[in-house]
Amino acid sequence: GKGEYDHFMLKEITEQPTSLAQAIEGRVDPTNGRIALSDFEPGTFDGIDSVQFVACGTSYHAALYGSLALNQAGVQSTALLANEYSVSAPPIDDETLVIAVTQSGETADTLTALRRARAEGAATLTVTNVVGSTAAREADDALFIRAGPEIGVAATKTFSSQAVMLTLLAQRIAGDLRGEPAADLETLLPELESMPGRIETLLDESDADLIAERYRESQSYFFIGRGLGYPVALEGALKFKEITYEHAEGFASGELKHGPLALVTPETPVFAIFTGQEDEKTLKNAEEAQTRGAPVIAVCPDDHPAVEAADEQLAIPETEPDLAGLLANVQLQLVSYYAADLLDRPIDKPRNLAKSVTVE
Ligand code: M6R
Repeated sequence: GKGEYDHFMLKEITEQPTSLAQAIEGRVDPTNGRIALSDFEPGTFDGIDSVQFVACGTSYHAALYGSLALNQAGVQSTALLANEYSVSAPPIDDETLVIAVTQSGETADTLTALRRARAEGAATLTVTNVVGSTAAREADDALFIRAGPEIGVAATKTFSSQAVMLTLLAQRIAGDLRGEPAADLETLLPELESMPGRIETLLDESDADLIAERYRESQSYFFIGRGLGYPVALEGALKFKEITYEHAEGFASGELKHGPLALVTPETPVFAIFTGQEDEKTLKNAEEAQTRGAPVIAVCPDDHPAVEAADEQLAIPETEPDLAGLLANVQLQLVSYYAADLLDRPIDKPRNLAKSVTVE
């Protein structure tokens, strides 16, 4: 049950320190800077030259996160919406690895994409929460995120676990293809092990309820980020619209000036996500919105230059750029939750939506 919580969503947000610790348990070995990920035999990824991720909704945002991490690690990769895949899949051959990211393992669009990839000769893998799901049975291999059951329709803890497992997987694949682990693993892995503690701190100290209250009368809510902050901006907006029924959109920070800026007014708060990847550019983009009157809420660590420049801050603990987006995402989950609660929405069961979408 929900125990002391009003909603499963809040319970599941709060569970993230535990669910993340479970996800990485036994899978990283920070003492020698290696990724154990013993889910895979040595050589599993030999002969792969590119990776395609297929997924929908929140899982697509996690897939995009993983795909950007792989690109940053030097491996050719794309994230594709599973529901677009049947009309516009990029070419596949036997050196393509197709990774289906799906919490439930039962999403029809994602299963269709997975089946097509298999039929065309790709190696397939699913990253899923459900052991024994259709995706886990049909893919060549499965990597389980071990988040435990998620009851709220809005995916929260499963996004975090997916993104963490995909970060590990990206490093493992890139390391296997290069024959050596990436140089920065020595800092990344201990950071990863610190994530549950950092999320704990963030949850204890979050001002998300105050921010939700302060901007409750707004017309529309924008989320911007770049690099690994971009999928987090998309996810922040999806969560917000899904449970508050208010209009929200996520953009790559640099895209704001290519059109969306026309929508910006004092009635459109902009949540700007800073992950340590070209933050000075994101800050400039945020300031362009601020000049048009939009309140800017910087999601960043305490001593960040954006704190001064922005109207508000949602604080995240200091970490590596590969992981900062995950912390930002937890703050945004809380903002959505409190905004929806103020509006008295049925948070765990938003109208018109189902936890698992088994039709195309
Ligand atoms: O079970 P899946 O991860 O395949 O589900 C995909 C989407 O339907 C899902 O992520 C959906 O977008 C979320 N419930 C939104 O919070």
